[in-house]
Amino acid sequence: MIGKICGTGSYAPSNYWDNNDLAKMVDTSDEWIRERTGVVRRHISVDDTTVSMAVKASRAALENAGVKPEELDLIIVSTITSNKIIPCAACEVQKELGAVNATCFDMSAACSGFLFGYNAAQAYISSGMYQTVLLVGSEMLSQIVNWQDRSSCILFGDGAGAAVFRPAEGVLPPCVTYSDGAKGQVLSCESRHQKGWEEKVKEGSTVVYMDGREVFKFAVKQEPAAIRKLMELTGEKLEDIDWFILHQANLRIIESVAKRLKVDMAKFPTNIHEYGNTSSASIAILLDEMNRKGMLKEGQKIVLSGFGAGLSWGASLLTW
Ligand code: COA
Repeated sequence: MIGKICGTGSYAPSNYWDNNDLAKMVDTSDEWIRERTGVVRRHISVDDTTVSMAVKASRAALENAGVKPEELDLIIVSTITSNKIIPCAACEVQKELGAVNATCFDMSAACSGFLFGYNAAQAYISSGMYQTVLLVGSEMLSQIVNWQDRSSCILFGDGAGAAVFRPAEGVLPPCVTYSDGAKGQVLSCESRHQKGWEEKVKEGSTVVYMDGREVFKFAVKQEPAAIRKLMELTGEKLEDIDWFILHQANLRIIESVAKRLKVDMAKFPTNIHEYGNTSSASIAILLDEMNRKGMLKEGQKIVLSGFGAGLSWGASLLTW
């Protein structure tokens, strides 16, 4: 058995900040942000929470799939910006949806979260442990971004994306995943729920710290390598892949991956201009947009690939 995505959904708050709004907050410009990142605007929550965005994306995905909430037997929410420590966001989503038969837990893998969640959903379905799975990536990054740091705040935004999986005949292809905790310091944010948190807040370590250059170098090297490894393990050829749906972190990173793989950029859809980097929601939002535009055809081969804090990264093969 394999998990087949039978519905997708996404949600972003209607409120947004464009680059000129950020230029009023930090020393930057629309031109610099567009050229260096590809971001034009990012959606920022006013009334939404990580859970409310996850619920809206999930309702859209369930409707798209024609699946009733009570049919779900597993809900995984990937997030690094959970509203509460307990209960987990997935249980709160379950409550709002009325998905009374689902087992629920959260996953924390930052920007690799949707990719790792995709692999987890596939593993559970192919083992027969669960059948109808809802996977959600939801992030309110505006709560942890350092809005005084021009080298990082320009990248991030809020949003959620979801996918519903059902079992189908097939064999689970190999996937490629990596973690390197020894390099974790280049992208970090400490919890406000720990001893001495007041000091941590004062020193500014409870908001995102990012060594942008190091993350950039890591991403442009490791993401194409992971995709090549995936091709090797699955026996697929790059030219036979219809779409490369990558984590939307920086347009220049995506262009560099396409160039290194020698694949036409037309196969790398992007929406970073609209949302910025929404961490574990980004792949799911893009997948949903493509699905709703009718860009995804039955049998198409899609590579999902992401990277992020941890460090963590990888690539998976999805047949639509
Ligand atoms: N506006 C204007 N100037 C800025 C700026 C901003 N928002 N941010 C940095 N600069 C300046 C720097 O101070 C530096 O000035 P200097 O040359 O006088 O020292 C110059 O621009 C270049 O800085 P640099 O950090 O080399 O820019 P960059 O081209 O690497 O772009 C990032 C910075 C953050 C956009 C880029 O490194 C990046 O996207 N990295 C990956 C981050 C990422 O993907 N994180 C999420 C992972 S999931």
